[in-house]
Amino acid sequence: MINTESKIKQIIEKLDLLPHPEGGYYKEIYRSSGIIQSQSLGSEFSGSRNFATSIYFMLTSDTFSAFHKINQDEIWHFYDGSPIELHVISVSGQHTQHIIGKDIFNGEVPQLVVPANHWFAAKTIKDDDYSLVGCAVSPGFDFRDFNLPTRQKLTERYPQHKALITSFTRI
Ligand code: GUN
Repeated sequence: MINTESKIKQIIEKLDLLPHPEGGYYKEIYRSSGIIQSQSLGSEFSGSRNFATSIYFMLTSDTFSAFHKINQDEIWHFYDGSPIELHVISVSGQHTQHIIGKDIFNGEVPQLVVPANHWFAAKTIKDDDYSLVGCAVSPGFDFRDFNLPTRQKLTERYPQHKALITSFTRI
């Protein structure tokens, strides 16, 4: 049996994944050639964007996806490995928790939509494992729409979630 560490290395190589600034590893596998002009987008978008993009995203037990937000809804699809615990904090501070996985009879969802402009963070629920998912957005992803706050900034805004924010931020 191959151990988890070598399996993770093999997946990273095979899918050509790179470290993501939020934590975990990713590879963009689709970017539509169609362009939405900036005047057709909300003022939160600083320019034109592709219609849609999609990535592979992998979390491993020794990392996590830190709280961040983007300007568009993000659709997560579960592919393989351990289920993912995903936390969402709305602008008004409402916290919700979801498990992305295949066990639909025990509250897991294979597909999850994270609403635009909500703070979200995620981790693999098992030790010594990984989670492989897909994340698709429309308008297409652009790092200009990506907001990765510091622990201090997010805690000042949502002091009621201090413990959660502390465990899901690294800067
Ligand atoms: N491309 C680069 N980073 C991301 C991300 O976090 N989400 C999506 N959907 N696409 C990306």
